[in-house]
Amino acid sequence: MKNGKITFIGGGNMARSLIGGLITDGFNPQNIHVADPNPDSRQSLTATYPVHSYDCNLTAAQDCDILVLAVKPQQLQSVARRLAPQWSADALLISIAAGLQLEDIARWISPSNTAAIVRVMPNTPALVQAGASALCANHHVSPAQRDHTEALLRAVGTTVWIENESQMDAVTALSGSGPAYFFLLMEAMEQAAIEMGLDPETARLLCLQTAFGAAKMALESSVSTATLRERVTSPGGTTEQALKTFEAGDLRALVKKSLIAAADQSQLLAQQLGQDDD
Ligand SMILES: NC(=O)c1ccc[n+]([C@@H]2O[C@H](COP(=O)([O-])OP(=O)(O)OC[C@H]3O[C@@H](n4cnc5c(N)ncnc54)[C@H](OP(=O)(O)O)[C@@H]3O)[C@@H](O)[C@H]2O)c1
Repeated sequence: MKNGKITFIGGGNMARSLIGGLITDGFNPQNIHVADPNPDSRQSLTATYPVHSYDCNLTAAQDCDILVLAVKPQQLQSVARRLAPQWSADALLISIAAGLQLEDIARWISPSNTAAIVRVMPNTPALVQAGASALCANHHVSPAQRDHTEALLRAVGTTVWIENESQMDAVTALSGSGPAYFFLLMEAMEQAAIEMGLDPETARLLCLQTAFGAAKMALESSVSTATLRERVTSPGGTTEQALKTFEAGDLRALVKKSLIAAADQSQLLAQQLGQDDD
C-alpha cells in the first residue's frame, strides 16, 4: 500500500496524527492528499508535511485507493453523499467518526451498497502515537484492504478487529471514552496528594509516572491485572488499606455502571446520527 493514493477528508487533529504516523512509517507523503475547507488548517498541514492539500473534497478523492473520512460525525453524512456520485467500487473507505454505523455510511456513499468500508473507533492517545483503535469491516472489505487499514491505524497505536459491530458500543465505553476515566482518577489522586501536603508539581509527576508505569507493566506482563494487583498488595500493608477502602465504596459497581451509561449513550447517538437528513 506504500504506493497507493490515500485521501483524507478533514485535516484536523486525528488526520494530522495519522498522516504523521504514516510518514514516520515510510509512506510516501506525495501519495497523501488532504481536503479541508479551512485555509489555515491546510497551510499548517502542508508546512509540516509535504502532502497535497485541497479545498475541494471531490478533487482530493478522485482515483484514490483509500479514502479516510476524518470529519466530525455530524458532518459525515453530507460529505459522504456529495462524494457518492464518483465513488469507485475498488476503493476502500475508512471512517474514524465516532458512532456512525457501517450500514448508514454504506447507504450514503454507495446507494447500490457495494462499498468496502471499515469503521474505526480510535481514541485520543492516537495524537501521541499511543492510541487504541477497534476496527470493524463490512463484508465487501478484502483481506488486503484489512491489512491496509491495520497498517494505517498501527501508525498511531494498537489495533484490534471487532467482528460483531454491535460490540462497538462497548468499545466506545471502554477505550473510546476510557482516557477520560483515567484522567479523572489521576486528577483525584493528584488532588488528594496535594491536600495531604505534596506540592502540585511533585503530586503531578509522581501520579502521571505511576499511571504510565502501571500501564507499561501490565502491557509487558503475561499475567492478569488482578494478579499484578495482588502481587503489589502485602497483607497488612498500605496498599491493602487503600484497596479495601475502594472496595468498601463499591468502586467496581460504579465503574460498571459508568461504562454501561457510556455504551447506552453510544447506541443512542448512533441511532440519531444514522438518520437520513432528507
Ligand atoms: N480526536 C480524537 O481523539 C478522536 C477520537 C476518536 C474518534 N475521533 C473521530 O475523528 C474524527 C475527526 O476528529 P478530530 O478530532 O480530528 O476533529 P477536528 O480536529 O475538528 O477535524 C475535523 C476537520 O474536518 C474539517 N471539515 C469540516 N467540514 C468539512 C468538510 N465538509 N469537508 C472536509 N473537511 C471538513 C474541519 O474544519 P473546521 O475546523 O474548519 O470545521 C476540521 O479541520 C471525528 O469524527 C471524531 O469522532 C476523534
